[in-house]
Amino acid sequence: MTERAPAKRVHIKSYGCQMNVYDAERMTDVLRPLGYGLTDDPEGADLVVLNTCHIREKATEKVYSELGRIKAMKERKAEAGGEMLIAVAGCVAQAEGAEIIRRQSAVDLVIGPQSYHRLPEMIARAHRAAGEMLAADFEAEAKFDALPIERGVAGVTAFLTVQEGCDKFCTFCVVPYTRGAEFSRPSADIEREARGLAQRGVREITLLGQNVNAYRNDAGGGLAALIRRLARIEGLARIRYTTSHPSDMDAALIAAHGEVESLMPYLHLPVQSGSDRILKAMNRSHTVAGYLETIAKVRAARPDIALSGDFIVGFPGETDADFEATLDLVREVGHAAAFSFKYSRRPGTPASAMAGQVPEAVKTERLARLQALLESQQRAFNAAMVGRTVPVLFEKPGRHPGQVIGRSPYLQAVHCAGGGELIGRIAPVTITSAAHMSLGGERARAMA
Ligand code: 5AD
Ligand code: SF4
Repeated sequence: MTERAPAKRVHIKSYGCQMNVYDAERMTDVLRPLGYGLTDDPEGADLVVLNTCHIREKATEKVYSELGRIKAMKERKAEAGGEMLIAVAGCVAQAEGAEIIRRQSAVDLVIGPQSYHRLPEMIARAHRAAGEMLAADFEAEAKFDALPIERGVAGVTAFLTVQEGCDKFCTFCVVPYTRGAEFSRPSADIEREARGLAQRGVREITLLGQNVNAYRNDAGGGLAALIRRLARIEGLARIRYTTSHPSDMDAALIAAHGEVESLMPYLHLPVQSGSDRILKAMNRSHTVAGYLETIAKVRAARPDIALSGDFIVGFPGETDADFEATLDLVREVGHAAAFSFKYSRRPGTPASAMAGQVPEAVKTERLARLQALLESQQRAFNAAMVGRTVPVLFEKPGRHPGQVIGRSPYLQAVHCAGGGELIGRIAPVTITSAAHMSLGGERARAMA
């Protein structure tokens, strides 16, 4: 999956103080993983950065006249079929902001000294605006950027990709670089595919997307509208979706959880951290309070919903207090399931260049504590099922003869005595035992 970037050339022209010389080195560092090497000559460069200084009189005017010269180079490069990005950094960028682009439209990005760690994001966005993907030096790691594998042969359950890519640019994540901009498939195509799956016996579909709740169809309808459309397909008894972003949990989707019977009461909604300071450094665009408010609304619409999430421990700068805040959040929410990771430095992402990287031993210790808490919550959630009768969709034979395995509405694996004729059917099961990852039960005559 790894694509080696063709060598690109960046020319950084620094004015003024020693601070700017240092900043130029930092910019060079964060640009290297994107395939950029330094060049002394702006002519023909792929990226020209004017690292400006405000101290001297007429500094701003000098920047504009320099930009005029670089604009001519950009035009020469465009005539030859190439592309040059122009960035204005430093104190003039800070002071003038977007005014620079208004006065000189050849400028692609303006970036203040506080934001150099976001240069990779801004360059990726500028390339996207030009309709081009950035082939960066990211080694893809399936754990973090791949969607679940779609099954070729239709079984009882199937995945259906509805959306790909991501516009969020969380500072730890490679997906916006490796997968590109958010793209949603037309809903008519999705419906056709879903009907085909249902005809082949699929009873449950999971709608997939890196940011699935950012789904927008050609008519502007969101994921809720798509779910309502698919819920009408005959034979399709269960609908799920993953993965969602808290900022895209709109009112329509929340309402659907209370109204669409086949939409299963399970929501995977990553929060990553329980500390607002860390969420901000992660560029997550939501706060702890905002996340909790969303959860409260979802629970109001669907009181029995099972919540799942992703967590990262040891993000750069995470203190003991930040980590404790994550544990507090987990205690408050009560998760039915979760995925948790040690922060891993992905070259080229802004967080990899941040100060305050957390020692491995601290990450290991924090992860163990978080996972112990999450496991106890999952066990409690499962234990609370004992004695209840729930509809189970049977998927496959169990490990022992005379046993079948299915899933509860809450995505728990349920083991039960029964034969192959049950596979593909939904039948009531009374839960008799619970463990960390699965439930045991007996078939019931009817839903209690
Ligand atoms: N380090 C640790 N975890 C990561 N994730 C994504 N990138 C990283 C990283 N660099 C996790 C996030 C995300 C999940 C799919 O993988 O929690 O939600
Ligand atoms: Fe990565 Fe998800 Fe953040 Fe997008 S929203 S950048 S896929 S973690």
